[in-house]
Amino acid sequence: MNPVDEAIQSRRAVRAFLPTPVPLETVRHLLAVASRAPSSSNTQPWNVYALTGEPKERLSAAILKARREEPPEAHTPEYQSYMKEWREPYISRRRATGWGLYNLVGVTKGDREGARRQMERNYTFFDAPVGLIVTLDRDLELGSWVDLGTFLQNIMVAARGHGLHTCPQAAFMDYHTIIRAQLGVSEREIVICGMAIGYEDTSKPENSLRLERAPVDAFTRFFGF
Ligand SMILES: Cc1cc2nc3c(=O)[nH]c(=O)nc-3n(C[C@H](O)[C@H](O)[C@H](O)COP(=O)(O)O)c2cc1C
Repeated sequence: MNPVDEAIQSRRAVRAFLPTPVPLETVRHLLAVASRAPSSSNTQPWNVYALTGEPKERLSAAILKARREEPPEAHTPEYQSYMKEWREPYISRRRATGWGLYNLVGVTKGDREGARRQMERNYTFFDAPVGLIVTLDRDLELGSWVDLGTFLQNIMVAARGHGLHTCPQAAFMDYHTIIRAQLGVSEREIVICGMAIGYEDTSKPENSLRLERAPVDAFTRFFGF
């Protein structure tokens, strides 16, 4: 297969990682490659906080402590990730994703404790050795959010070129106050997401999740071909 197609198509959200470290030079390289992403007028709006070792463990511990000891309303997301009134085709896709994952890890309908446990895995970056927190300056407009998406995808595809896998994680935005306190993220920035980076643990059932995509003709209209 064409290596670019291969990198893109082998990317998926991996939710269990090996402890194998990822060196600073590799992380730096991935970010440098990813920064070739296009952005409106080359504004390059992304900010990245890259963590490994003790600072990563400390952030995870603080978030997990907050989840266990504080009421949920103490930590609220900074932005709305999902549509308020779900409708097709999105609702079916969301359900297929949730149940696809839950079935693999043995969370059954009504098993709130199991669902909570799986959600919690986000906050250790699914045990990946490297975690990124990605922010945007708050005064940027929607176009910069599009720009950020191109950058995030570049990191994930570049990671494949080094045998690494990733998981983008909006889950982190709920804990922006803890992230701000620990990493010195200013109120002028919005915490957009996290990202786990590492080597896939192929023995874990959650990593066998393969999610389908709608065919090209379902989302494209061709003119003049
Ligand atoms: C912006 C963004 C945020 C995401 N946040 C999370 C998250 O918090 N936790 C998680 O497990 N997966 C998260 N995902 C991964 C998606 O669930 C996943 O990409 C989608 O279900 C398609 O699966 P695939 O990437 O394996 O093909 C996120 C993806 C994106 C693009």
